[in-house]
Amino acid sequence: MASNNLELTNGSLRVRNGTLTQDEKKKEVKECPSVMSPETKRLLPPNTETVQTKPFPIRGERSNYVNSPHVIAMVGLPARGKTYISKKLSRYLNWIGINTRVFNLGEYRRHATTDYQNHDFFRPDNAEAMAIRAQCAEEALKDVCNWLENGGGEVAVFDATNSTIERRNRIHDVFVSQKGFKLFFVESVCDDPSIIEQTIREVKVSSPDYKNMNKDEALKDFLQRIRHYEEKYQPLDEKLESDKSFMKIYNTGEKVLVHKHEGHVQARVVYYLMNIHITPRTIYLTRHGESKQNLEGRIGGDSDLSERGREYAFTLGKFIEEQKIDGLRIWTSWLKRTIQTVSELNKAPQERWKALNEIDAGVCEEMTYSEIKDQYPEEFAARDLNKFAYRYPRGESYEDLVARLEPVIMELERQGNVLVVSHQAVIRCLLAYFLNKTAVNGRNFSEELPYLKVPLHTIIKLTPVAYGCRVEHVNLNIDAVDTHRPKPKVPGFLEDRFKGPLTPPVNSVQ
Ligand code: SIN
Repeated sequence: MASNNLELTNGSLRVRNGTLTQDEKKKEVKECPSVMSPETKRLLPPNTETVQTKPFPIRGERSNYVNSPHVIAMVGLPARGKTYISKKLSRYLNWIGINTRVFNLGEYRRHATTDYQNHDFFRPDNAEAMAIRAQCAEEALKDVCNWLENGGGEVAVFDATNSTIERRNRIHDVFVSQKGFKLFFVESVCDDPSIIEQTIREVKVSSPDYKNMNKDEALKDFLQRIRHYEEKYQPLDEKLESDKSFMKIYNTGEKVLVHKHEGHVQARVVYYLMNIHITPRTIYLTRHGESKQNLEGRIGGDSDLSERGREYAFTLGKFIEEQKIDGLRIWTSWLKRTIQTVSELNKAPQERWKALNEIDAGVCEEMTYSEIKDQYPEEFAARDLNKFAYRYPRGESYEDLVARLEPVIMELERQGNVLVVSHQAVIRCLLAYFLNKTAVNGRNFSEELPYLKVPLHTIIKLTPVAYGCRVEHVNLNIDAVDTHRPKPKVPGFLEDRFKGPLTPPVNSVQ
């Protein structure tokens, strides 16, 4: 074999002759395919363009099976971010396809009592209130069991203080000894008064408990409430509770301790909770500028930007620079149209993620909807029936895409300010995660996700607030074609506007 065949003697790689020197090849193979010479591109391992079958046929099949019901039980004094962790964890688990629901004990207590008066309710010597609280806890445990056994639930997050060994033993008894569920305690420990006060001011003073108090009175009352819990609080202890599975998170992630975790779901929970942080930041999502193939209504491919697309790249560069975003990082896919879109952004570090590439349309790559309908009518209609689960022949489904994007989400959670420049289907999946499209509609999120509107030439600005994300759309006022195809009433029906080249909507920037 000629020496310029590189080291591609491995049976799974294809061997090509080439004329580049070893050094040139080594340098080039670190780059994205869209900026490689055709010669080096041919030396790459097989991919969608070059192989007839996928290397991993099970790719995208549900990877997160939950064999036995799980309960994640929070532990910690009030204002330690338990509700924040519960909601965020639930959003993540639902997004990766695990049916998860939060059961918040405070809501049971509010339901069982008339208006909250003051912290006296939480005094350990208030026998009447203690009885109500114990009763509420039992109700919640019952509901958790019911949902996990009969409601299709897979992971229940029990959001309560669970701050004594006695209470945790009761929880263990019900869920593990009686029901055989898996149980994992997550304790949030925080001794930084500034974080505690920030939590109280951000979320507690606006709780329904304090609707009749001003913010300063509410803060004072809540601090008293914490004092009452502190009288009886017993942190999770490796010796005293050696049989329990748990993790402890200190000062919002400064340190983490994991004790006897069991299995895949708990490992995912630990991994996720180790990556999240509460430092304020903003995530900017945008599609690439309009591409030449967008103009023709072709999906996928790797085409250059259109003239208007280049104008967007220029305007985006100016806009981002004007914002003076601290420590901004820029992520693009490996495809030319995203890389060209950030060509004016020279001041911030840029990273290319193959995982941010557009959904792989397999045999339908670079076709128009009209061509797909003509050549693969059954496939075209099948996609309309269940767009989330539908997998293009030799390509991907939205479900596959969510699995591919998980490392991106994990890394986004770790980062500060990031601008992500990617593609329509990819941004739909990212948005569904950030906007919690799972919470309101439960399993129906799969109906909504593939139809989320992500117009070209628009920046979607996501800023974490309290338990969610504020979303703002910044339209940079440059015309672009509208590639959004809403779900048709009749599967397989194609609107006339997709039957030729696409045009921008009349009189409008989108
Ligand atoms: C509450 O009633 O607000 C919380 C109850 C608890 O978790 O201790």
